[in-house]
Order: sequence, then structure tokens, then C-alpha cells
Amino acid sequence: QDDLFKNVVSHAKEYGFIFPSSEIYDGLSAVYDYAQNGVELKKNIREYWWKSMVQMHENIVGIDAAIFMHPTTWKASGHVDAFNDPLIDNKDSKRRYRADVLIEDYAEKLNQKAQKEIDKARERFGDAFDEAQFVTTNARVMEYRTRQREILERMARSLETENLADVKALIEELEIACPESGSKNWTEVRQFNLMFGTKLGASADSAMDLYLRPETAQGIFVNFLNVQKTGRMKVPFGIAQTGKAFRNEIVARQFIFRMREFEQMEMQFFVRPGEEMKYYEYWKETRLKWHLSLGLGKENYRFHDHEKLAHYANAAADIEFNFPFGFKELEGIHSRTDFDLKAHESHSGKKLQYFDNETNSSYVPYVVETSVGLDRMFLSVFSKALQEETLEDGSTRTVLKLPSVLAPTKAAVLPLVKKDGLPEVARKIIDDLKWDFNVSYDEKDAVGRRYRRQDALGTPFCITVDHQTLEDETVTIRHRDSMKQDRVKISELRAIISDEVSM
Ligand code: GAP
Repeated sequence: QDDLFKNVVSHAKEYGFIFPSSEIYDGLSAVYDYAQNGVELKKNIREYWWKSMVQMHENIVGIDAAIFMHPTTWKASGHVDAFNDPLIDNKDSKRRYRADVLIEDYAEKLNQKAQKEIDKARERFGDAFDEAQFVTTNARVMEYRTRQREILERMARSLETENLADVKALIEELEIACPESGSKNWTEVRQFNLMFGTKLGASADSAMDLYLRPETAQGIFVNFLNVQKTGRMKVPFGIAQTGKAFRNEIVARQFIFRMREFEQMEMQFFVRPGEEMKYYEYWKETRLKWHLSLGLGKENYRFHDHEKLAHYANAAADIEFNFPFGFKELEGIHSRTDFDLKAHESHSGKKLQYFDNETNSSYVPYVVETSVGLDRMFLSVFSKALQEETLEDGSTRTVLKLPSVLAPTKAAVLPLVKKDGLPEVARKIIDDLKWDFNVSYDEKDAVGRRYRRQDALGTPFCITVDHQTLEDETVTIRHRDSMKQDRVKISELRAIISDEVSM
């Protein structure tokens, strides 16, 4: 799994998908740049989402709100007071940890100890693993596992009640049970707000403290009535948005999984109070179907229903994806009640009510939101698509089996040789296709190597122009996944590609 993940990171760099930010200055932690192919893949994922949410739903419209918002927004939303992670420093190693992640790491160590007990017993007793030995081994394993559960429960309770002294005591206890740095020299646990602050205005005394938005959702909430009125929207209706969000993440160690600057694709669905659970279930199913439509394998997705809820929610679930480092959150579906709109009403003094013609009453709608990270979508698609294949002749090829609809380049046009007028014909094909598809030209190296390069870039088709083309206006078209080649008329190319890459 580690190797797979390393391959993903290095392939992303080598083939121009993702670079570390400001790499010539040794990069910036948890910040990445999308390169020439990455930007196309990312744009296609965004469009795939936008079409399915906005274009396909008569009652969902999109907006693009500013990243900067009035600072009171974040007071109302609860982010100033409650958008925190608990943080602890080790004074000896001078390393900083997110306290809950550190405790989870320790809990995982206990789990590993339990596994070691099992392995040790197997090795020592082999087939002669009798009942008595089984009972003693099992007792020790159970002890570790029970302890692990206790720890996680204690952590959850202490964090919920913000009893940070308990969190610290727990870490110190754990350091004795599974020594990490051989040190018990920890600072107090502090709550650390994840929002990035900045200033608006030039002069020191009049400058206004601002935050970079930590979620795009609030831009939708504050515009709820503007959109409803100008769009003559009737409940239930949705507002969708994609855009950058910023979080000063403490733990940032999984490539583009957890970034400090990332992009969200969110949709807030406004419903009649009391109907929110119906739509919560509807959006859970609908969003899962959208993920499955990409064809990366049903077994790679699962729901995780939250027991501990964020400050704004009365129900919440994640769609988890099987990333190279295990199942982790890809998308969140939250029933946010009327928490946000009510909070904005009371902080702004403006009514955010909807008049319902059918019930002849005014109310603040309830909200069900779907929120998916674009970068996480990128990682999910890219990591599953990247495959190493052994061919019939025993050689291997690296192929990026991206869903064709998302592939950065839809077809590469390759003249078999750099002479005899073949490049000119290839250019003509490109000039014709480029109005509809992203296509590329490549004449360098033997054609077999050019095929391999396009496989690694995820290009679904290679179109090869050869001498026969000059006689009968046909070309070969090679399919990335099957490597099958067909001879087709140049005039048929548009329809063949379109069939494969359209939504
Ligand atoms: N408006 C609700 C909201 O922001 P969230 O669960 O905090 O909910 C939603 O975030 C999604 O945004 C996550 O499921 C994840 O895909 C993405 N996301 C959150 N933090 C991220 C980070 N630091 N880096 C990349 N993606 C992130």
C-alpha cells in the first residue's frame, strides 16, 4: 500500500499532474500546484459534478461567491468559536501533534501489539496451537483491544466536554504504554483555530480582520434569499458552488488528501422543516450513485454514519473511499437544520424567511448539504486509475485508466513517421477535432513508445496516420484499455470519440 501511494505521488509529478508548491524553494507543506494535465483532469471532475448537480436539476442553480466574506459571517456560523483542533507539543522533540490524531496513532499501536501477540503465538506453536494456548493468547489480545476501545472513548468524551487536561493525561499514560519518543515532556493541550486570518484595508487602525473561508457553504447561506427571490425558486431547491477553501491543518501528511488550500464542491438544499430527513436520505443515495457512475468499483465506497455531530448538524454521513492508505472520507452529507440561516438572521438582523405558497406560511428552511473535496476526488480517481499491467509477451505497461469523460486529453494524433506528408495530415485531423475535444500531437520516438506515454497520461485514444492514410483517408484508432486497434475513416473519428467521452 505504501508503494502504491508512492507510485501515485511520483506518477503525478513525472507526468505533469501535480507539483509541490514553490518547489524551487523546497515546497510548502500541504500546498500543491496542479500542472498541465492535472488542471485538465481537475476541471473535468468539476464539470462532471456541476453538470450532474446544476444542469440536470431544474431546481438547483449555481453561484460563485467571493472567498472574502464579512467577518461576522464566521462568528454566526460558529467557526470562530468552534472550528478548532486540539493541539499538543512535545518539548523534547519540538514536534507538534494534533492531540486526537496522536491518541489514535497510539490506539493503532495497541492494535499492532495485539496482532503481534497473534503472530508470535502462531509462529511458536504452529499446528500445535492447542486450546489452552489459544485461551491465553486470546486473553492478551482482548486486553489490548479493550484498552484501545477505552482510550478512544475517553478521548471522545474529553474532547466533547473540552476537558483538555484529560486529553493530556491520556497522552502521558499512552506514552508509558507504548513509548514513542521516550519522553513525557508535553505542553498543555490547546485549542487551535483552523481558520487563516488576514487583513482588509491599509491603515493599521482601520484595517478589518478577515478570514479566508474554511468552507464555501457560508457564501451560499448569506445569498440564500437573493437567489430565491431573483430566481423565483420554490422550496425544495438547491444552490451549488465550487471554489477554494482554506484550513490551517496541523496534520498534513497525505499528499492532496489534506491540504491547507483546497477546493470544495458544495450544494445546499433548502427544504420545508420536518422534511429534512427524507432529503438527507435522498442525497446520500444520489451522491453515492454519482460516485459509482465513474466505474472505479463499488467495493471502493462505503457510508460512515456519524455519531459525533458537528455543531450545526442533526444527522451526518460520509461517503468513504478506499484510498491507497485505506478507507477515508471523500464526501460529507449533512443535515444542517436551520442552524446557519437562523444564526445569520440573528447576527445580521435581517429576516431570512421563505414564504411557502402551498402552506401559506413563512419559515426559515432546513438545509441538507452535500460537500465533496475536489482534490480528494482527484486523488480517488487518479489512485484507482493508476495500474501496472503485465502484457501477454511478459512486458509491463503503466496505464492510467481514467474514466474517459475525465481524461485530460481525449485523443493523441501520431504520424507514423516524421516525413512523407504524414505530419501534415495529422495536423489537419487535429485542427478538425480540437473544436470538440482536447487533442494532442506527438511525433517524437517510435510509435510504440508514444502509445505507452499516452497510456501513462490516461489518453483514451491514439490515432495513427500512416502511408495508407494518404491513399484511402483511413487511420488506425487504438483503445487505451484493450490496446485494440481498428482501421476507421477520418470522417468517423469525431463520432467514435464522442461516443466514448461524453457524459
Ligand atoms: N460545508 C461542510 C464542510 O465543509 P467538511 O466535512 O469539513 O464539511 C467537506 O468538508 C469536504 O471537503 C470533505 O469531505 C473533504 O472532501 C474536503 N476537505 C475538507 N478538508 C480538506 C482538506 N484539508 N484538504 C482537502 N480536502 C478537504
